[in-house]
Amino acid sequence: MKNKESFGSKFGIIAAAAGSAIGLGNIYRFPCEAGANGGGAFFIVYLAIVLLMGLPLMVTEFVIGRRSGKNPVGAFKSLAPGHKGWARLGYLGVICSFLILAFYCTVAGWTIDAVWKAITNYYHGKDLATVQFGFDSLKEETWQPIICEAVFVFLTAFIIIKGVTKGIEKYSKILMPILLGILIILGIKALTLPGAAEGVKFFLKPDFSKINGTVVVNALGQAFFSLSIGMGILITYGSYIAKNDNLTSTAFSVCICDTIIAILAGIVIFPAAFSFGITPEAGDSLAFVTLPMLFNQMAGGYFFCLFFFVLLTIAALTSSISLLEAPVLYFTEELGISRKKATTYSAIGVFVLCIVASLSLHSDTCLKIGSFSFFNLLDYITATFLMTIGGLLTVIFLGWKMKKEDFYDEFTNDNTVNMRLRKAMYFIIKYISPLAITVILITQFIK
Ligand code: TRP
Repeated sequence: MKNKESFGSKFGIIAAAAGSAIGLGNIYRFPCEAGANGGGAFFIVYLAIVLLMGLPLMVTEFVIGRRSGKNPVGAFKSLAPGHKGWARLGYLGVICSFLILAFYCTVAGWTIDAVWKAITNYYHGKDLATVQFGFDSLKEETWQPIICEAVFVFLTAFIIIKGVTKGIEKYSKILMPILLGILIILGIKALTLPGAAEGVKFFLKPDFSKINGTVVVNALGQAFFSLSIGMGILITYGSYIAKNDNLTSTAFSVCICDTIIAILAGIVIFPAAFSFGITPEAGDSLAFVTLPMLFNQMAGGYFFCLFFFVLLTIAALTSSISLLEAPVLYFTEELGISRKKATTYSAIGVFVLCIVASLSLHSDTCLKIGSFSFFNLLDYITATFLMTIGGLLTVIFLGWKMKKEDFYDEFTNDNTVNMRLRKAMYFIIKYISPLAITVILITQFIK
């Protein structure tokens, strides 16, 4: 086992993992998915999945990481020597990171565009149709989104090359609570808008008849995406966790933080959207049109808007650095390439994919399959299949390939914590999670 520097404090690792988890997934993607999948029905399934599958998988990744002290590729190699195939699971994570990043940087580009619009007071006094038109035309543009994406990819790569990831995480310990504070203020404002009650009902009142296979598979994908699990990224984080930290309570705290932000985003966006007459199926516009319209209605809206989108960009950055770190770690640790080169090449690769993704959103594009643009395809393939299959194989690895004693030792910090929980957790990881994910995936494949 390698002797690695571990995170200074328990709070440090929670902040870092929460930094990876909290991002566009919570504020942009969660409302899109909830809106498209029936609101309350989706919400209840999502919560159940976070608790029953997300948490155990996060614990699994932490256990594998801390046990091996390595990056995902190295971890699978060292914990199952002689089973070469398992290292491929690490590669899957590396590929998946690239694809997610391309999607992610496109959306982050819109966020940077929103920062610019906030600075120049573009939104001020505009009506819904105009703000909507502005956002739709951004997607039709060629250069503007690409420039914004370039800024974001550059910032991500810069942070990684400079090796100041920890520094950013230190700031985000202060900044993310501020984001939370703004969301709470926005929530209060949104809930007092005329017609807000309909939005609350849509988001929180489960209509059980709307739960079907698609809702469940989308909730599963959203949970994995939002918690940053299923592609081995948290294995790396696990390798930095101190030996005496309680992995379960750490994972639990991360899941709670991430879920609170997602719920708040829903409580802000749906009441406001219903009040302004934006449909819950509006997708991208839910975040990028509803929120500016909400700021427009507030005293001090200029500053709230600016602050909010800046903080959202930072939240996106703490996620994108964790995503880019995956290929970079692989290139440096397994292939021996320098960090600077590894980062530069990875960033260029991501940027190229990202350009294709944003061009595929033009209405006259040929970059689509059926009604699926390349952008949607990236999202669909990663969240619906790659991450869920990655998560499935990870729990199978722990349950069926690793020694049970190794899991118990790591999970209980050598028999000092969680003694009563260990059997139940092992049972869930070994039997329940694999079975549940398989059933969900098969229903989707059949469709
Ligand atoms: N969880 C992040 C979000 O919600 C996105 C993200 C960061 C991610 N790292 C990841 C998704 C690793 C999957 C895997 O915005």
